[in-house]
Amino acid sequence: MNVLVIGSGGREHALVWKLAQSPRVERIYCTPGNPGIAGLAPPFPAESGDFSGLIREARRHEIALTVVGPEGPLAAGIVDAFREAGLLIFGPTRRAAELEWSKAFAKDFMMRHAIPGASSRTFHPGGGDEARSYVASCPLPLVIKADGLAAGKGVIVCQSRDEALRALAEISDPSSFGSAGSTVVVEEFMEGEEASVFAVTDGARFVTLAPAQDHKRALDGDRGKNTGGMGAYAPAPCVTPSLLRGIEESIIAPTLRGMAEEGRPYTGCLYVGLMLTAQGPKVVEYNCRFGDPETQVVLPLYEGDLAELLAASASGDLRAPATPVVAAGSAVCVVLASGGYPGAYETGKTITLPGADETPRGVMLFHAGTGSGPGGSLVTAGGRVIGVTAVRREGAMAETITAAYDAVGRIWFEGMHFRRDIGARAAAKPYST
Ligand code: AMP
Ligand code: GLY
Repeated sequence: MNVLVIGSGGREHALVWKLAQSPRVERIYCTPGNPGIAGLAPPFPAESGDFSGLIREARRHEIALTVVGPEGPLAAGIVDAFREAGLLIFGPTRRAAELEWSKAFAKDFMMRHAIPGASSRTFHPGGGDEARSYVASCPLPLVIKADGLAAGKGVIVCQSRDEALRALAEISDPSSFGSAGSTVVVEEFMEGEEASVFAVTDGARFVTLAPAQDHKRALDGDRGKNTGGMGAYAPAPCVTPSLLRGIEESIIAPTLRGMAEEGRPYTGCLYVGLMLTAQGPKVVEYNCRFGDPETQVVLPLYEGDLAELLAASASGDLRAPATPVVAAGSAVCVVLASGGYPGAYETGKTITLPGADETPRGVMLFHAGTGSGPGGSLVTAGGRVIGVTAVRREGAMAETITAAYDAVGRIWFEGMHFRRDIGARAAAKPYST
């Protein structure tokens, strides 16, 4: 079959890389793609936001399955448009994707279905005075969130009341978050380790992939601003197999049941961001897609045929996989970011990469914000530039971490920064099976 992937980041590079390994896949296209993806998937003659152009070209290229990477097109209804046109597409409908595009909806949904999460209050536009008096009295620390999509940056953890009042003003300011910030969620701060679990689902049945841990803060030791994710590893030893079963029973299954009951059945990848608290796992957030960078470590550990899995999810026919879902071993991804990210950064910096024969075995360089520069050079074109991913089928996580950083040492661009502690927490703990 021919497959189309929509998106341009490290997640989409990993999706294309894994899909290309499926014996069922004949041709694979990606739009808008990036220079790293172009080596595996030629560009596609329709823009990712132009649904009617995509549908026309999908028919012309005999695309049997379209896989959507980012949340933007999902929130804009790409799945609804493809389904109306009778085309198979992997992802949730716009109404199902509301779990991600409205944090206020997600919080109400969790309350309705008794899904564990932080206690919270939602303030709608015009509720500024009420929100300010609420944060003046509720326990600290607290977390203030913009309701809408904000690329992982619409969340501010506040240690003091002054900080909380400033955060409320910032999030409600149309020049920083636009309409994403007009409704605000104020949430209890949860303590614990974080983990990301991806469930691929056809609306009723689901398969969970290797649990992963992202590193959301910009600086080592979980300091600095929240980012889209500075690195990830899998499997996360904090999510033991018995804990994963508990998460499936107390969070994933009731979420899918609740969405179906409310007339918005959820298909595609349900990303559950979790806090493993002393009272058990609780939902930090839902996302309606694969996570980035987690996908870069989760997919290399998926043992099965990804094209088959995603097509089964899209066509409502997901059966228990014949092969083990999670392969032995571990994967570590270190994100190389532009100087200044997650704040303002410059682009167009020349990237020096190792040649194909100098890239160590078991290391993939998943491109994210890369672009083509003068004379066929590779230049930076985004905040997160490259995900350096090492995969080892055996041995300790510490060795996989060393392999990833060894490859990082062979890459350079002006202003490049990265965290030096990706996976450090897991290296201290063996994964129990
Ligand atoms: P979100 O976009 O909702 O996933 O939030 C981004 C990050 O902010 C999370 O990955 C957590 O590190 C942190 N965070 C969000 N909500 C909470 C919470 N209620 N308690 C503690 N940390 C949180
Ligand atoms: N890594 C966080 C996300 O994809 O939202």
